[in-house]
Amino acid sequence: MTPSADRSAAESLLAFWAEAGVDAMLLEAPVDRIAAGRLAPPQPPTRKGPAAAAAPPGAAPPRPEVSAAIAQAQALAAEAQGIEALAAAIAAFDGCPLKFEGAARQAVFHRGRSDAPVMLIGEGPGAEEDAQGQPFVGRAGKLLDKMLAAAGLSERVFITNTVFWRPPGNRTPSASEQLVCAPFLERAIALVKPKMLLLVGGASAKAMLKTEEGILSLRGRWFEWRSADGALELPALPTLHPAFLLKQPAAKKRAWLDLLSLTERLDRSDRPA
Ligand code: URA
Repeated sequence: MTPSADRSAAESLLAFWAEAGVDAMLLEAPVDRIAAGRLAPPQPPTRKGPAAAAAPPGAAPPRPEVSAAIAQAQALAAEAQGIEALAAAIAAFDGCPLKFEGAARQAVFHRGRSDAPVMLIGEGPGAEEDAQGQPFVGRAGKLLDKMLAAAGLSERVFITNTVFWRPPGNRTPSASEQLVCAPFLERAIALVKPKMLLLVGGASAKAMLKTEEGILSLRGRWFEWRSADGALELPALPTLHPAFLLKQPAAKKRAWLDLLSLTERLDRSDRPA
């Protein structure tokens, strides 16, 4: 086929998919599911580099372009001396593919107090967050706000996500997208200096705690989160995502118990010894 015939075949295929409602790319690369059945199982990683230290144990080391993006994010994040400077650095950063895949409008970084004792870390922005430029402002965010208010936490949280651009089709962010954004998130933690982290949903808990364990078994248990360079350590509590609670209202009780555990620990830390 000539290049122009190739192009028109590709355009007509894309138009066919778009008409069928397939308008978002959900993975970073196409998967040949027919060939996948014939492939040997993936081999464990053997190479370790500086950026690999931030990957979960047993995970393959990041691809070179991911390592380069992580290094660039680390350098930009280190320069930011305040939260607004960090927000500007994130907005200018081009190293996360989500910026060009899922986000229609803008980077979504934070809301809440920048001296808050609790940092709440969700999964990633959705359509409403992309439109408004703030995390947790859609339906799930409204439920989250009600829960935080009921627990007396509204004025005690800084709210952000593991990635700062909307994943296409609201899919779960990939490990490499989270790794690329992690230096900014760690810098946010260093600047805000919270006393504890609230990890909202499985994608946040798994990325921050470097575990494959499911959120239903992680939630309600306290962990020690540690930054990639080991310089920062904080107690971290995984809890259920409000989007999950909208679908499974019966699980709200468990999320409420988690918030009580958090406020109890926070109040304890505020009391003079
Ligand atoms: N879900 C998240 O995890 N974060 C948001 O900001 C919105 C929805």
